[in-house]
Amino acid sequence: MKKLQWTGNTVLITGGSSGIGFELAKVLSEKGNKVIICGRSAEKLEKAKREIPSVHIVQCDVSLNSDCEKLFNWIIKQHPDCNMLINNAAYANHMDISNDDEFVNKAVHEMRTNFIAPVTLIRLFLPHLGMKKNSAVINVTTGLVYLPKAVEPIYCASKAALHSFTQTLRLQIKNLPIKVIEIFPPAVDTPFHQGRVPKIAISVESAVKEIVAGLEKNKNEIRVAGSKLVYAISRIAPAFGLKKINEL
Ligand SMILES: NC(=O)c1ccc[n+]([C@@H]2O[C@H](COP(=O)([O-])OP(=O)(O)OC[C@H]3O[C@@H](n4cnc5c(N)ncnc54)[C@H](OP(=O)(O)O)[C@@H]3O)[C@@H](O)[C@H]2O)c1
Repeated sequence: MKKLQWTGNTVLITGGSSGIGFELAKVLSEKGNKVIICGRSAEKLEKAKREIPSVHIVQCDVSLNSDCEKLFNWIIKQHPDCNMLINNAAYANHMDISNDDEFVNKAVHEMRTNFIAPVTLIRLFLPHLGMKKNSAVINVTTGLVYLPKAVEPIYCASKAALHSFTQTLRLQIKNLPIKVIEIFPPAVDTPFHQGRVPKIAISVESAVKEIVAGLEKNKNEIRVAGSKLVYAISRIAPAFGLKKINEL
């Protein structure tokens, strides 16, 4: 497929009001792209808009099928030039199956947000993106798709599902002019960790710098910083890697 251009696009980023999505919105805007971000909190979206005045904001809870449909219809009407979808919104529950009465309810919501929402949005946007030039679907997963952490059991499962789906999507739509990209961040210092930021976390600025460099190199899979090591260990010594990642 032709090399994508990283200027002059109209990019929808789910969960762009904070962390990696916000920093991506900033950098892509600076590169001359129109960026639309969505999230649940209007306050967070308005704060993001104050920091990136050119960004377009829209409230949407991607865990709700009806909100995904509303978002798609709004984009088609307000920003019909949209040619890139970045599925970035996600969260992680720390939970234990043996002592959490809400485990299944929490799992269903986490799967809806982290896995079903990207699938729903991709299904909605596919015909539209297929008619656009320079179009892409970009899914944000994690290095933990290779070596899961027991404290975040459903998060890791939801991202492993999205990783698998991204690979099969690339095969299923190989005849469409849509590039399918997967980004695997390592631990990044963002509100995602709710104050429990891992010692090994890198800054959001350096993570996004590496992500954008990977996009500009036309990569299909962008393993950022420590995710490269996680990938390598999962191939060479998976049992050792699983033990080590769960000791961090
Ligand atoms: N930070 C890390 O260490 C790390 C590591 C590997 C992968 N990742 C991945 O990177 C992506 C971004 O993470 P981050 O660290 O930037 O997280 P973050 O700072 O917590 O930002 C998450 C964003 O998603 C939005 N969001 C959450 N639930 C949503 C929903 N149901 N509907 C719409 N928007 C929703 C949030 O806004 P609202 O709360 O207002 O909805 C916020 O804008 C995620 O896919 C995450 O899995 C992160």
